[in-house]
Amino acid sequence: MAREFSTVGVVGLGTMGAGIVEVFARNGIDVVAVEISAPALERGRATLKGSTDRAVAKGKLAEADRDALHERVHFAVGLDALHSVDLVIEAVPEHLDLKQRIFAELDRVCRPETILATNTSSLSVTEISVATSRPNQVIGIHFFNPAPVMKLVEVVRTVVTAPEVVADVEALCARLGKVDVTINDRAGFIANALLFGYLNHAVGMFESHYATREDIDAAMKLGCGLPMGPLALMDLIGLDTAYEILDTMYRRGGRDRRHAPVPLLKQMVTAGLLGRKSGRGFYTYERPGSPVVVPDESTPLATDGGLADGARAIAKVGVVGSGTMATGIIEVFAKAGYEVVSVTRGMEKSAKVCEAVKTSLNKGVVRGKLAEADRDAALGRISWSATLDHLADVDLVVEAVVEELSVKKALFASLDEICKPGVVLATTTSSLPVIDVAMATQRPADVVGLHFFNPAPIMPLVEVVRTIRTSPEATATARAVCAALGKTGVVCGDRSGFIVNALLFPYLNDAVKMLEASYSTADDIDHAMKLGCGYPMGPFELLDVVGLDVSLAIQRELYLELREPGFAPAPLLEHLVTAGYLGRKTRRGFRDHSHR
Ligand SMILES: NC(=O)c1ccc[n+]([C@@H]2O[C@H](COP(=O)([O-])OP(=O)(O)OC[C@H]3O[C@@H](n4cnc5c(N)ncnc54)[C@H](O)[C@@H]3O)[C@@H](O)[C@H]2O)c1
Repeated sequence: MAREFSTVGVVGLGTMGAGIVEVFARNGIDVVAVEISAPALERGRATLKGSTDRAVAKGKLAEADRDALHERVHFAVGLDALHSVDLVIEAVPEHLDLKQRIFAELDRVCRPETILATNTSSLSVTEISVATSRPNQVIGIHFFNPAPVMKLVEVVRTVVTAPEVVADVEALCARLGKVDVTINDRAGFIANALLFGYLNHAVGMFESHYATREDIDAAMKLGCGLPMGPLALMDLIGLDTAYEILDTMYRRGGRDRRHAPVPLLKQMVTAGLLGRKSGRGFYTYERPGSPVVVPDESTPLATDGGLADGARAIAKVGVVGSGTMATGIIEVFAKAGYEVVSVTRGMEKSAKVCEAVKTSLNKGVVRGKLAEADRDAALGRISWSATLDHLADVDLVVEAVVEELSVKKALFASLDEICKPGVVLATTTSSLPVIDVAMATQRPADVVGLHFFNPAPIMPLVEVVRTIRTSPEATATARAVCAALGKTGVVCGDRSGFIVNALLFPYLNDAVKMLEASYSTADDIDHAMKLGCGYPMGPFELLDVVGLDVSLAIQRELYLELREPGFAPAPLLEHLVTAGYLGRKTRRGFRDHSHR
C-alpha cells in the first residue's frame, strides 16, 4: 500500500511554487503554502488566484471547484507552519546553500516520517539531502513550467533514497494525473540536460546579432513545431533561474562550454530584466507576471508585406532543379500568383516534375483546400524549360539542385551571364556556405539563401540567409517574397545550420549521448521532451523520421565549422549509420519499424 498524502507543504511561491500549490489543491490535497515574507506571500497568493481565475474564464475549471481549491490552501510565513504535513516540496531560488539551509530547518520542523522533496532543476539532490538527518527520505520531484499544464514530473532518487519513498512519490504523481520518469541524480536530469544547451545557444545567437529575437523564436516554432521559441521560453523560466541552472550544469556537468551562461544573461539579471516575472526580459510584457507581450523599441515595424526597405518588385520567378524541394517550391510560387519558369536538365525530367506538381495540386482539390479553377490557374502560370536561357527575363531565381558546391557554383556562374541586372539569385542550400555560391557570380550583393523546409507547400518557415556581401535590398526582397507566399521569412547570417538546424541537431545529438551513457531509455527521453517541454515529437522519434544519416551529416558540418567540442557526433549515431540503421526509411533506426 502506498502512503497516503493528505497534506503537503510547498516552500517558495514563485514561478514554480505557486503552480505546484495549484496542482496539489486541484487534486483534493490540502496545502500549506509558505513564503519568506508577507509581501512575497501576497505575490504567491495573487499568482494562484490569477491562474485559477484564468482557468475559470477559459471554462477549464468550475467556479465552485476554484473556491474549493482555494479553501484547501493555507498560507503562512516561515517554515514552522509545516510541522504536521506529510510531504514538503521546496521551490526556492536555485542556490545550494539556501536549499541546504532550508532542508536542515525542515528536518527540525517536520515530523520524522515526512518526505522532503526539492524541485531543483540542476542542483545535486544528494548534496541537499545530506543537510538533513534523513537523507533516505529526501527526493527530487521536478515539475515543469507551467506546473498545472505540463504532464511530466521527473522523480529523482539519490543513492540513499529509500525505495518505498520512491514508490510513494511515484504513486502520488499518478494521483496528480502526471506522468513520471524516475531517474538518478545527475545535473539537469533528462529534460534540462537536453534543453539548456539549446536555450543558451539561442541566447548566444541573439547576443551576436545573428538573428533578431522574433526571428529566432519564429524559426523554432514554425520550423520544429515547438510551443514557444527559446527566448520566449527563457522569459517564462525566469532569467535568474535560467542563469543559475546553466551555471550549475556547467560546473556539475563536465564543464561543457555550451552550458557556460552567455554573458548577456548575467547582464540582464543584474539589470533586473528577469523575464515575465519582472515584466521585461528578452521581450516586454504588459506588467510583471503577465504573459502578454507588448511592443517595445526592438519590435520590428509592421510592413505592408510589400515593397518595404527597398525590396524590389517580383513578378516572374525561375526555379532550377527537379527534386523534391524544387517541385514543392514551383507549386508554392505558382499558387501564390507568380509566373514561374521551371528549368530542369531535360524535358523528361520536366514532365516528371510537372506530373508531381499536378498530383500535389490535385490533392489540394480533393481535400477541398484548393478550387479547381485555382489549380488550373496555378498550372497555367508555370512554363517548363530545359535551358537556363529562359531565365533571361525573370526577377528572382531559386536554385534547388543537388547539394554539391561545384554544381551550384557552376550554375550561379551561368545565371550571372544569363539573368538581367537587379535579379535576386537565391540558393536553397541547407549546408553549404551561401557566400561560396555568391562569389561564383559578379554580383554577390544580389545573392541570398532561401532555405525552404520540406514539404515546401506545407511548412510555414523560410530562412533568408544573408552573406556579408548581400545587399539590404536583396534581403528585403527575399523577405517580402516570403510574406507574399504566405510564409514567415526569418533572416539570419551565413553560418552552418542557419537557425533551425544549428539549434535542433546538437540537441538531438545530446539525446543520443544521453542514451549511450545509459542514463535513461529512448522511451523516457522521448516522453520527457514531449510531456515536459511540449515538443511534438521526442528526439528519437524525430531522428528516425529525419534519417540518422542526414542527422549525422548535419551534425558533422556543425562540428567542422564551429569546432565546438560538444558538437562532436555521438559515437552511437555513427555506429547506427554504419550499420545501415537509418530510421524509418530502412525500417530500423533507434526503434524497429518493421511491424508498423
Ligand atoms: N522556472 C522554471 O521554469 C523552473 C522549472 C522547474 C524547476 N524549477 C526550479 O524550481 C525552483 C524555484 O524556481 P522559480 O523559478 O520558481 O524561482 P522564483 O525566483 O520564481 O521563486 C522562488 C520563491 O522562493 C521564495 N523564497 C526565497 N527564499 C525563501 C525562503 N527562505 N523560504 C521560503 N520562500 C523563499 C522567493 O520569495 C520566491 O517567491 C528552483 O530550484 C528552480 O530550479 C524552475
